[in-house]
Amino acid sequence: MWAELLPVGRGSASGGYRRYAWTAADGECRAWFEEQAKARALDYEVDRNGNQWAWLGDPAAGDAVVTGSHLDSVPDGGAFDGPLGVVSAFAALDELRGRGARFTRPLGIVNFGDEEGARFGLACVGSRLTAGTLTPDQAHRLTDGDGVTLPRAMEAAGYDPDALGPDPERLARIGAFVELHVEQGRALDLSGDRIGVASAIRPHGRWRFDFRGEANHAGTTRLADRRDPMLPYAETVLAARREAALAGAVATFGKIAVEPNGVNAVPSLVRGWLDSRAVDQESLDSVVGAVESAAREYAAAHGVDLDVVRESFTPVVEFDHVLRDELARILGTDTGLTVPVLGTGAGHDAGILSGSIPTAMLFVRNPTGVSHSPAEFAAEDDCVAGVRALADVLEGLACKEPARG
Ligand code: GLV
Ligand code: MN
Ligand code: MN
Repeated sequence: MWAELLPVGRGSASGGYRRYAWTAADGECRAWFEEQAKARALDYEVDRNGNQWAWLGDPAAGDAVVTGSHLDSVPDGGAFDGPLGVVSAFAALDELRGRGARFTRPLGIVNFGDEEGARFGLACVGSRLTAGTLTPDQAHRLTDGDGVTLPRAMEAAGYDPDALGPDPERLARIGAFVELHVEQGRALDLSGDRIGVASAIRPHGRWRFDFRGEANHAGTTRLADRRDPMLPYAETVLAARREAALAGAVATFGKIAVEPNGVNAVPSLVRGWLDSRAVDQESLDSVVGAVESAAREYAAAHGVDLDVVRESFTPVVEFDHVLRDELARILGTDTGLTVPVLGTGAGHDAGILSGSIPTAMLFVRNPTGVSHSPAEFAAEDDCVAGVRALADVLEGLACKEPARG
């Protein structure tokens, strides 16, 4: 499975992945998912929001156990963020079938669409629509960097954007969702554990800062006559770093658009996107509030206009304690060890769904902690341990009695 996915959407220069929602590379990943489902004689379906599902047993029976993740990527992303959870889901099913497991609850494997939000700016579009926290109207207004709207992109990929909307009946049939994911930090490496269980996701969001000045000639315009939006933008980047450090939070300007984007022109517009995350809501509000007021001061000093728009926000997620403890118990029974329980600053579909159904996450050790980069890595032994852990968890949750001796 891993070998089949490896070349899909991989850039030859960076070695990273560009599997953006509803593009050809995403389509190849989705075709792969469908093949995996059919090769295992699972019932395959695509829901109204374009999420893919593979079922063992009839989900209408209710109280289903679902696992999976996403196959899309950030720009020049790594191989593991997302795909590890989907590959491990199919591999865990194979492992359970090999153990002769007898399922008493329906088992689902899911690939959520557009988790990273790399193309349309909003993360977890598939799960937000399903949970009803993103309305179809809001989704229809999402537009990519080339001016293509989400509905047009979905149509071009062969999906019906008019079908988008909440899916409470589907969620009501799910008793537990467990997402396996590569760890995006070094907690497991430092503790010497292969596998961890998630406790919480820190609150996070994305804000767009539009600095508007005046385009002019880079060679002939006196410095004193310029209204250059790059200057307050640059000062704002430094302010974000300073405020985040003060609050023990993180703040990143990782994406920027410049108009007219000419080497010999003073820009008319600098648009920068701030991603900020903190341990609690209060710290996050204070960091973003301080960055915004600093940006307003800098903009005014340079005669530049500023608009700040919050494009997305995800409040703190505390994963279901009962399910989390059940995972730790199942994994602890198997290994005789205490499984570490970790918080994370990364967003996940499991976090979005946690408002509607019991959800949990398993993390697989990442020896460098690097993620959202081609250097993202997990060792094969640790990935295999992840599959076994996921199989144990699914067996504990969805099977009558452990088939193993
Ligand atoms: C998704 O991986 C995010 O945390 O932004
Ligand atoms: Mn990611
Ligand atoms: Mn992910």
